[in-house]
Order: sequence, then structure tokens, then C-alpha cells
Amino acid sequence: MFIPAPVQVASDTGVFRATSATSIVYAQLSLKDEALALQAELKNVLGTQPLVSYDQTGKTKGIRLAIVNIDSVPEGGYSMVIRKDHIELTAPDDAGIFNGVQTLAQLLPVPALNASARPAGIDIPCMSVTDFPRFAWRGMHLDVCRHFFPVDLVKKYIDLLARYKMNTFHWHLTEDQGWRIEIKKYPKLTEVGAWRSGSEYGPYSDRTFDSTRYGGFYTQEEIREVVAYAQSKHVAIVPEIEMPGHSLAALAAYPEFSCTGGPFEVEKGWGVFEDVFCPKEETFTFLENVLTEVMDLFPGEYIHIGGDECPKERWKTCAHCQALMKSEGLKDEHELQSYFIRRIETFVNKKGRKIIGWDEILEGGLAPNAAVMSWRGTEGGIAAAKARHNVVMSPGSHCYFDHYQGDPANEPLAIGGFTTVQKVYSYEPVPAELNADEAKYILGAQGNVWTEYITTPEQVEYMAVPRMLALAEVLWSPKKKRDEADFVRRLEHEFTALSALDVHYSKSLFNVGFKLTGSKKRGQVNVEPFATPGLGEIRYTLDNQEPTKDSPQFVTTLEQRENVIIRAALFRGDRKLGYSTSKKLSFDLATGRAVTTSPAPNERYNDGGPFTLVDGVSAGNKRVNNEWLGWKDDRVTIKLDLGEEQWVSRISIGALAEKYSWIQPPAEVEIAVSSDGVTYLVLDTPKPPSDAKNHVEFAVSVPMMTRYIRFIVKSIGHIPEGDAGAGNPPWMFLDEIHVK
Ligand code: ACM
Ligand code: ZN
Repeated sequence: MFIPAPVQVASDTGVFRATSATSIVYAQLSLKDEALALQAELKNVLGTQPLVSYDQTGKTKGIRLAIVNIDSVPEGGYSMVIRKDHIELTAPDDAGIFNGVQTLAQLLPVPALNASARPAGIDIPCMSVTDFPRFAWRGMHLDVCRHFFPVDLVKKYIDLLARYKMNTFHWHLTEDQGWRIEIKKYPKLTEVGAWRSGSEYGPYSDRTFDSTRYGGFYTQEEIREVVAYAQSKHVAIVPEIEMPGHSLAALAAYPEFSCTGGPFEVEKGWGVFEDVFCPKEETFTFLENVLTEVMDLFPGEYIHIGGDECPKERWKTCAHCQALMKSEGLKDEHELQSYFIRRIETFVNKKGRKIIGWDEILEGGLAPNAAVMSWRGTEGGIAAAKARHNVVMSPGSHCYFDHYQGDPANEPLAIGGFTTVQKVYSYEPVPAELNADEAKYILGAQGNVWTEYITTPEQVEYMAVPRMLALAEVLWSPKKKRDEADFVRRLEHEFTALSALDVHYSKSLFNVGFKLTGSKKRGQVNVEPFATPGLGEIRYTLDNQEPTKDSPQFVTTLEQRENVIIRAALFRGDRKLGYSTSKKLSFDLATGRAVTTSPAPNERYNDGGPFTLVDGVSAGNKRVNNEWLGWKDDRVTIKLDLGEEQWVSRISIGALAEKYSWIQPPAEVEIAVSSDGVTYLVLDTPKPPSDAKNHVEFAVSVPMMTRYIRFIVKSIGHIPEGDAGAGNPPWMFLDEIHVK
């Protein structure tokens, strides 16, 4: 029952019996931490601890850990042989031995709560395991700025990474809302920058704030403690110091490093802010001094310098910035950002380290040796790999664990999105666009836990687990071993261990999903409730009642032609797993009809294809589900065939206005009808209200006979000044077409 699945396991007969008399021997002095880690695992179960000793001579009964060069096992991998009279764990390096110890730990029973129930011995089944990682960067990120989390939580997070053979912890330490790392040379960074006078709460659309002073930071002593702790578990920490954007907490402490001179406050609210570091000499000196202390604390190869979401407004009107652009021959502010990152890279490289940044560091030209973390989709990662730069994939579609993982109706408030554990498990980090040579630049991937809506350690665990286990397997195990049903079975088993480790994991994976498709038959929606195969039976009701063990079991497609609320839950025998979920279908003349879009929706927001527009389910007010289709194009043409000439009185299509997410309503929607699908009569071209927010409808009311309907949806082209993402092309999100 391993997670991640090993490369190769061969079962054998018999068991190795481990007791407190079992000896653990390590053959190289460097393996002491690994031997102690195994000792602690056994002690947890047995109550008493087996003896650990150093012995380089070989041949011992008991458990032996040894570095050996094995041709078949690359770095981080190991070979483990469990026989009746001994266990031998060998690897080419310490990390490999540590990973093997994690595998062995997953063979142990869950510790008894009650000391008297502890076993005198543990029977470990005999087997041979050969195992090694698919990717070198197996990462998890944690934002400790939007909300602050104590050292204990950080260590527990590192424990979880280690248990699942993840090896990189990206610690997001600075933000607009708080600076969380003590810097001796600049004490105000934490005296001022670590504290804000209140926090945003509730859904972002409400923009509600409390006035409770909030903050915290890690002392350098605490940082050293965490770094040493992570090192003992072969987890590298990549600290992130954000620049040039997301830096208001630093500017609140030292406004002289901004363009305007301030004053500033540490931000209470979420978002992207226009006051950023000004690229003057004093700023570079400051950042270099900060990075010098950071590099003294963190010994790893990579330093994350942020680089994302840096508005250029201040630079455009700053005399220093404009003069610098002129003297350096920079043609726009993107090149100024690139200049900023290059200077920082030169400094970091001189200290023998490398930088990594979010994919915006590609804009205006990539610094010569920088690695790229691709988050706004996969394009940035593809471009960087083609340019022969190292890449870590972290696209929002699969790797943002701040997204909902189940029906928002049953989940704690989240930023939006919809990323189930099964979806994470389906992730392939190497984009199909890369050839084999370019694919070598994909170091791996990373799950991100941003904490605007995550306020407690328990909620961090809930959002991270079990999605990080799915990602751990994606990153470690061979691609051809990927098997969702088998993974989920192992995961269910692992839940017992997670409970014993006091981890507050989510069980949303037991939720039933609904696949909606069109039908050749007129005006019909085919509904297929689904769950991971093998977990249990899906039972459903068609009247929105809570399904019970006696409700009908789903076996074949539910063909729907009338308004209905389908509610379904997963059962194992009499027992309901997880909670029920529902789908409400509302039928009109458009529902279930043939629909096409040109161009196709963007791959990031195209889960159900164009049929989503007529599937009987209207997207809600927020971007929290997969009912919205998204485009970044200037113009989208949608054609609908009602199947035959029909009397219609009203035609409409919905759009989303969520300006803080760069989602703008269309400038206008031309609505036309046709009886032959060739010659169209334009009925009207409605525009959105100027204060458009949430769900916006574009409609015409004209009673007439028609068969074909065409919508030409026109984008506003560029996001207007004053809105998030000003100057960029906006997203257009469209959903349900209604014809009555
Ligand atoms: C990010 O999510 N702003 C990197
Ligand atoms: Zn400036």
C-alpha cells in the first residue's frame, strides 16, 4: 500500500519480524539521520526503540542501511530486500536511503492510541523493491504571508513531503500582506512589515475587512532550525523573496525603495498592487543585502525571486525609471522588469546560486540562467524549455491546491477553481509540445498552497492533503504505472495513517461528479454520474432527496429531457462515503441542441467543451466550477441549431464579469437568426451595463420562427485603466445559452 507507487515490487513468502530487539545498522556515518528516522518509526509502533549502531563491516542480522553504487538505481533511488532474517536497504546516496526508509515506514501498522495495545513485534512481509524518482523537483509550496503559520505547522508540512518522497519545499516568505523573515540589517522589515492593521475576509466580491492587528515572522534562529530539520529529511527549501511586485510590506517599512516614496501600509486585502520596487541603485543594494542574509540561511541551489504580477504603472510615470530605460536602451517596462531580474540574477549567480521565478520573468527577455515556474498555464514552461531553461511546472489547472477540491456547497470558502484529487492525479508534467530533448528541461512540478482563504493550520492540511499525495505519485512513479483506481484504494488505506498522524485531510474525493453530454436525440442531456472506479456504488435520486442505501444504483446513462435535480452519493454497502452532490438541469429550447464555437475555448477553461453552453446548467456568479468556458480571443462565434424551425420569443447568453480575475464582460454580443444556417438576420447587438458584476446576460426578445442562432461575442480588446491587468487582453467567460 505504497504512495507513491514504487517502480518495481516483487513479493516473496514469509515475514521479517521487527521487535525492540531488532538492530538497525548503518554502514556509513552519513546515514545516522536515516537510521534514527527508521528507529523513530519503529518506536512509534512498538513503544520501545530498537538499537541503532554504526558498523561498516557488513553482514548483520536485523536491518542494514548502506550506500552502494548500484547501476540500476539513479540518485534518490534505492533497493530494498526484505527477507525473513534481515532487511537490506541500499542506495547510491543518503537521499535514496531516506526514501527507502519512507517505503519501509509505509509497511508498518498505524501506531496504537493506547500503549497497552502495542504489539510486541511487527510482521513485515518479505519482498524486493527497486525504486527511483521520475522527476528531480517534487515540490510543495506554502504561502505564509497572507496568513502566517507557526514553525510546528511548517515542520509537519515538511514531514508530509518527506513521507511521500517529495524533496522541495517552496517557502513563500514575502508579500504585500506581510514580510515573514527576520533580516538583521533591516529590522523594520519585520517590526513594520510583518504586521497589518486588519485582514480581508469572506468572498473577494464582498471586499469585507476586519480591523484586528495580524502578523508574525520567523526569526533567523527559527529559520535555521527549520532548514536543519528539512535537511535531515532530504527536503531542500527554496525561499521566495518577491520582487519587483508583491512588495508592499517591504515598502511599508522602507518606502524609499518605491517610485513615489510612499507612505505605504502593509496590505489588508488580497490582490495585485501598483506600488512596487523602483529599480534604483539603493533598491538593488537593499535587495542584495537581503538576499545575502537569505543565502546565508538557506543553503540550497535555488533562490525564488518571485517576478509575478508586477504592474508597471509606477514605472511609467517615474522619472528615475524612465531615465534608466533610456540610458539602458530598454524599449518598454517589460524590458525594465527583465533588467531588474537580470541584475538580481547576476548577483545571485556570483554567490554560486541560481534563481527561479514565476513565468512573467519571460516577459521582456529571460535572464540568462534563470529557471521558470510555469503557473499561468503551460505556455511559459514550454517557451522556457524550448529556450533551454530549466522549468518547474505549476499550472493553475492542476497544481493550485488553493482551489476547491469538491462541490463548493460543501467546502470551506476558497479562491475559486475546481481541482479534484483525481484531476491532480491525471496531470502530466511534460507538455506534449516538447520533444524529448526539450523535455529534459522539465525538472518536475509543484503544488501551490496560497493562503488568502486559508486561515488555520488544519485548513492548510485540508487543502494540501490528499492532493499532494496525488502529485507526489505523478512526480515519482513511472508514467506507465499511473492507475487512478489503484491509487485511490491505496489512498483510502493511507487515510488511516494520516489520521494517526493527526493530519486534517479532505475526503472530497468520495464525491460523485456528473458528466453531461449531448445526444443525437432532440433536446436531451445525457447524465453520467461518476466516481473513481472500485470505491463503491453510486446511488441517486431524481427529486433532490438525499440518496440512501436503498436508492437506485447508477448503471447506465440517465437520459433527461425535463427539469430535474439529480443527487448522487457513493455507497459501500450500507455506508455512505463522503457527502452527496447534485446537478440541477433546467430545460428550454436551446438545451441539449447542437452547438459549435469558433475558436474553441482556451484549454484551461474547456472541461466540458462547447456543449457546456447548452447542457441545462447555468454557471453561477463565480468562477468556482467548470461550467464557465473561457476565451482570450478578440471574437468568438457561436452557432446553435435548434433542430427544426421553432417559435422563439427570447434569446440570451450569459457572461462573467469578475474584473479582479481579469475576466471582463464582452464589449457586445451580436445575436442573429437564420432559417438555413447560411444567411443570418441580425436582431440586436446588446452591450453590458457599465457596472457589470458577476453574471451578465446578453439578450434579445423578438417573437419569431427560426432554426439557427448565431452569437458573435466581441471582446473589449484590452483591460481598461484602473482594472486589474490593465492593458492586457481580458478573459471572456461564457455560459448558458437560453432560448425560450
Ligand atoms: C501566482 O500565483 N501569482 C504565482
Ligand atoms: Zn521608479
